[in-house]
Amino acid sequence: MTTALTMWADQPFALIPVKSLRSSSPMALFMSQDMANAHNNLLRALNSVYNQAPYVTNEADKRDLLQYTAFWVDWIEHHHHGEEEVLFPAVTRVTGKESLMAHNIEQHEAFLPGLHALKDYVTACLDTAKPDVVFASQRYREIVDSFAHILSEHLADEIVTLTGLEVCEAGDAAKLKEAYAEFDAKMREGDKSILYPLVMGSSDAGFEGGGALWPAVPPPVRYLIHYVFERKHRSVWRFLPSDTWGKRKVVAFGPSADHE
Ligand SMILES: [Fe+2]
Repeated sequence: MTTALTMWADQPFALIPVKSLRSSSPMALFMSQDMANAHNNLLRALNSVYNQAPYVTNEADKRDLLQYTAFWVDWIEHHHHGEEEVLFPAVTRVTGKESLMAHNIEQHEAFLPGLHALKDYVTACLDTAKPDVVFASQRYREIVDSFAHILSEHLADEIVTLTGLEVCEAGDAAKLKEAYAEFDAKMREGDKSILYPLVMGSSDAGFEGGGALWPAVPPPVRYLIHYVFERKHRSVWRFLPSDTWGKRKVVAFGPSADHE
């Protein structure tokens, strides 16, 4: 049996290497690094709850796990809508290559049924009008297993597409920069009491040796998030892998964990 400390959120769904990314286009490299960091946060947040699910027994804790999962599904849907509505069309316009983002959109379609099944399951479990639908960790993980490998493959493949944008002419960099800024601004939209704690708490300050905590925000912002925005759903954030500063937390629910 593994101990709680060995099942941290860098597994089972593989994270994406960032420091080794290369591109001849500085703008393509910036986009691919930023996107890979965002994808890694999405993956850590999923890994964290997936690993803890079998050890959640108390009803209040189960509701927090379900609520966390509902927030995570909304986050990843928001991410992919932003890509399909803003970033991918801009890349297609700039490169003139219709097919460039097509594979990524196909992959979105491939994992959507599983993602929706997870959303339906957690919504039903949280619905007090449906007392016959109750959380079972085995069922929960079966649903995640039905799509998470396709999802993680997509999250990695998208980075390969972005580094490949080195084919763009130099003059296109400014247009891509503008499109990425628009996408980034869209990613920051939403309920600050949900999105900000999720993003900060799924970072890893020590990833690949440390030195580049993502997202880069002014120090006071993390204090604001920790002391203000995390308050509303504080018990839900026990399932996050890290604290607001990207420091790995001791897993709250595991074979040898003391529940907070
Ligand atoms: Fe993405």
